[in-house]
Amino acid sequence: MLSISDSVAVITGGSGGIGKALAEYWLSKGGKVINADVAEEALRATEQELKKISTNIASIVCDVTSEVDNARLASFAMERFGAINLIAPFAGITADGLVIKTDRDTGKVSGKMALDKFQKVIDINLTGVFLTIRECVEQMINNDCRGLVCVVSSTGSLGTAGQLNYSSSKAAMSVFPKVLTAEFFRRNIADKVRCMAVAPGYVATPMVKNMDERMIAKIVEQVPIGRLIEPEEIVSIVAELYRNEAMAGETVFVHGGLRLGSKG
Ligand SMILES: NC(=O)c1ccc[n+]([C@@H]2O[C@H](COP(=O)([O-])OP(=O)(O)OC[C@H]3O[C@@H](n4cnc5c(N)ncnc54)[C@H](O)[C@@H]3O)[C@@H](O)[C@H]2O)c1
Repeated sequence: MLSISDSVAVITGGSGGIGKALAEYWLSKGGKVINADVAEEALRATEQELKKISTNIASIVCDVTSEVDNARLASFAMERFGAINLIAPFAGITADGLVIKTDRDTGKVSGKMALDKFQKVIDINLTGVFLTIRECVEQMINNDCRGLVCVVSSTGSLGTAGQLNYSSSKAAMSVFPKVLTAEFFRRNIADKVRCMAVAPGYVATPMVKNMDERMIAKIVEQVPIGRLIEPEEIVSIVAELYRNEAMAGETVFVHGGLRLGSKG
C-alpha cells in the first residue's frame, strides 16, 4: 500500500470543486500538492485557503489545452517537490446542447450544435488530459517515481442527451486506464505507474450547482440516495485507488445508485 504522506499530487482544475477537495485532502494527509488551473484568481485564492492546512502547496497557471503549459507544469512539480506520485487531470467543462434541434411546430431542423461548442469540450476534457498525462508521466518515469494516474470519467460516459461533446470526452476517459496500463505493462513499468478512472454521477460542485434549480431537482429524482454526491466522496475513492496498488486499468463508478434507464 502506498502512503499519501510526503507524496506529490499534480492536480489540474485544482480550484474547481473536485480538484480543490482533492488538494485539501492530500494536504491534510501530509502530502504535497501542485495545483494547476486556468482561472488565475481562483487558483491564488485556493492556495491562500489551503495554506492554512499545510504550506506544502504550490500553484501554477496552466491551460491544459496548451502543450507548453503542460510541459511547464510537469517541470514545475519536479523543481518544487522533486517527484510526481499522483496525476489528477481533473480540469473539465460542459457546454451542453442538442446536436440537432427541431422546431416543435414544423418538425424541421431549427438549430445545430456549433463546431466550436463540440471542439472546446474535446480540447479541454480529452486532449488536455492526454497532454497533462503525457508530460507528467514522462517526469515520473525519468525520475523513478511510483504512483497513479487517476483520470475522471463520468456516468455521462454511458451517454446523456444534450451532451454528445461531454459524453464522448468522458467515454474516452474510460479507455485511458486500459490503454495506458497495457502500454506500461509492455514497457515493464506497470508495477510502478498505474492508471485508473473514477466515474462520478452528479457531484455538488459549481459544474452542477450552476444548473437551473428545476434541472437539479429532476436529476436528484433519479438518484436512489436522494441527493448529489459530495466532492469528498469522490476524493476518498481517489485516495484509496492511490493507496491500493492492486487497482489498475479500471473505472470505478461513484453515483449513489443513479438510475440511467427508466425507473421501471
Ligand atoms: N461535478 C460533477 O457532477 C462531475 C461528474 C462527473 C465528472 N466530473 C468531472 O470532474 C472534473 C472536475 O469537475 P468539477 O465538478 O470539479 O468542475 P468545476 O467546474 O468545479 O471545476 C473545473 C475546473 O477546471 C478548470 N478549467 C477549465 N478549463 C480549464 C483549462 N483549459 N485549463 C485548466 N483548468 C481548466 C476550471 O477553472 C475549474 O476550476 C471534470 O473533469 C468533470 O467533467 C464532474
